Amino acid sequence: MFQPGVVWRDSAGQPINAHGGGVLFHHGIYFWYGCHKIEGLSEAADADGGVRAYASRDLVNWHDFGMVLPLDGRGDEDLRHGCIFDRPKVVFHARTRQFVLFFKFYVKGHGSRVGFVGVATSRSPAGPFVYQHKFLGGNSPEGTGDFALFQDDDGALYHLAVRKPDKAFVVGKMSDDYLMPEGAYQVAEGITRHTEAPAVIKRDGRYWMLASDSTGWDPNAARSFSAPTIFGPWTSHGNPCEGINPHNGLGSELTFGGQSASIITLADRPDACIAFFDINKPDHPFDSLYVWLPISFAGGRMSIRWRDRWSLDVFAAE
Ligand code: DGJ
Repeated sequence: MFQPGVVWRDSAGQPINAHGGGVLFHHGIYFWYGCHKIEGLSEAADADGGVRAYASRDLVNWHDFGMVLPLDGRGDEDLRHGCIFDRPKVVFHARTRQFVLFFKFYVKGHGSRVGFVGVATSRSPAGPFVYQHKFLGGNSPEGTGDFALFQDDDGALYHLAVRKPDKAFVVGKMSDDYLMPEGAYQVAEGITRHTEAPAVIKRDGRYWMLASDSTGWDPNAARSFSAPTIFGPWTSHGNPCEGINPHNGLGSELTFGGQSASIITLADRPDACIAFFDINKPDHPFDSLYVWLPISFAGGRMSIRWRDRWSLDVFAAE
């Protein structure tokens, strides 16, 4: 059973340490990649430790694969403790057979004015990943902040992100090998300015986005949008959340205390989607929690209702 908002332990009994994460399915196994937060350090004291990965066959029970991209500076100066390293996501490139890992990246000692996207690759979903380079997205000299990557049915990969410094939401296509943006980004018509934490899926030929407002580490109301093409025009469907998280007393207006990280699609049920939120704890991020909840699509909108406990059987009932 999934139990949103309580400590989620791996098969060794340790709290799962993979924040701002995403899940990739490959050859019968789900891989959960997320940001490892160093125990005892606050966000202000540089808690980011790199990317940790877990594996599962059922999405409930997770085995720790350990660090697949540590911030130890080995091999590249960029990847040093003290940089800001957030929201890692992995996609598989069918032709190059590479697993490509993207992360939100601020260089050590340079604050958060300029936001890069870091790129690392591996031949195996279990890593290790090798850092390749960083790029500035959004056709902006200050780059982008929170982002989503969406792999379309034809294999094309899109980078969707909040642009710096104006916080417009932009969409750009990645190159055929996925490693760099290609061509100009477009402002996504219909997506409210200051939209962060985006996660994108496609369903019945329509693109859907779950996202948040922009309030630092503090929770705010979730946002949802849909569009006939990845570039828009996007239609707002408002806050998809309903209910209250009994563990912290926070309701839909604060996304149960969480912020979106990604959407997980079941391997055998592409219409069955799970919203992945983090409950951020910037003073002790090692203790941040996860909220995974099923998404239902009805009446032309998405809805995400709080559940204390649930299993994948909810999708069979639909
Ligand atoms: C909001 C983002 O969504 C988070 O991932 C994090 O980067 C915070 N901002 C930092 O303030």
